[in-house]
Amino acid sequence: MSSQFKTVAIAGGTGTLGYHIAEAFLNDGSYNLKILRRKPETENEKAKLLASKGAEIVYADYDQKDDLVKVLKGTDVFVSAVNGTSLYDTQVPLLAAAKEASVKRFIPSEFGGEFNKIGVNPLIDGKIKFREEVVKSGLEYTFIFTGLFQEFLGWFGFDVKNKKATFYADGNKKLHTTSLSDVGKYTVETLKMPEARNAVIKVAGATLSLNEYLQKFEEVSGEHYSTSFFSNAILFKNVGLIIIHS
Ligand SMILES: NC(=O)c1ccc[n+]([C@@H]2O[C@H](COP(=O)([O-])OP(=O)(O)OC[C@H]3O[C@@H](n4cnc5c(N)ncnc54)[C@H](OP(=O)(O)O)[C@@H]3O)[C@@H](O)[C@H]2O)c1
Repeated sequence: MSSQFKTVAIAGGTGTLGYHIAEAFLNDGSYNLKILRRKPETENEKAKLLASKGAEIVYADYDQKDDLVKVLKGTDVFVSAVNGTSLYDTQVPLLAAAKEASVKRFIPSEFGGEFNKIGVNPLIDGKIKFREEVVKSGLEYTFIFTGLFQEFLGWFGFDVKNKKATFYADGNKKLHTTSLSDVGKYTVETLKMPEARNAVIKVAGATLSLNEYLQKFEEVSGEHYSTSFFSNAILFKNVGLIIIHS
């Protein structure tokens, strides 16, 4: 299926996730891709690599709306893969500029678990509040929930180097996970799916219990992992947010 969109801008396209989204758009081959970076211009190996594969690297001062609007003119889809202490404050100027530049669709920097309750974690609060702004903006949107990035299973106590697993929750608890490259591919696919317009898209490369992830780590490495259980309410509140209660 083809997409009605031609030009995509990715803010944060040099980041841990953004780079994989950028690669997926370049591999798809149907889009003109702009990587939006913050001024001042700085050397960046990932930006160089993406430019060598055909992306245009553009810079703007995120505090200057006119500057942002100028680089976003002609963009059909804005993908935000930025990070920062407040994903609300960081993304509000990007949304305002996208609207003024007549961007058609906005995909905010979600890419985690589906959280709807304010007050659990400041990062999540920023994401929830910003989703409301995106809906209010009148731009088309897609919210993409992916669960934990598989490359981040260390956050859940899987210590590959030392072959140790520390469970912060019951080992039977299920967890959605998706690899970074698959998050990139799913993001590209949403542009071809009519049902992704003004919608929440939930994807998962795997939904397994912590015990089952442990089994996979042991199978792949051919080594036994030592396990321990560590009940830490604060840690669980931060990292355990993504755990799905089965
Ligand atoms: N589900 C999971 O397991 C998981 C794990 C990690 C992250 N995430 C989510 O994925 C998204 C991207 O995270 P990431 O770790 O890939 O990000 P990151 O690599 O830390 O940063 C991405 C890019 O954002 C830009 N940036 C950084 N700080 C900024 C600021 N204060 N204001 C504006 N732009 C800023 C930088 O680009 P330039 O310097 O080029 O402008 C940076 O390369 C976030 O929504 C994050 O919560 C999910």
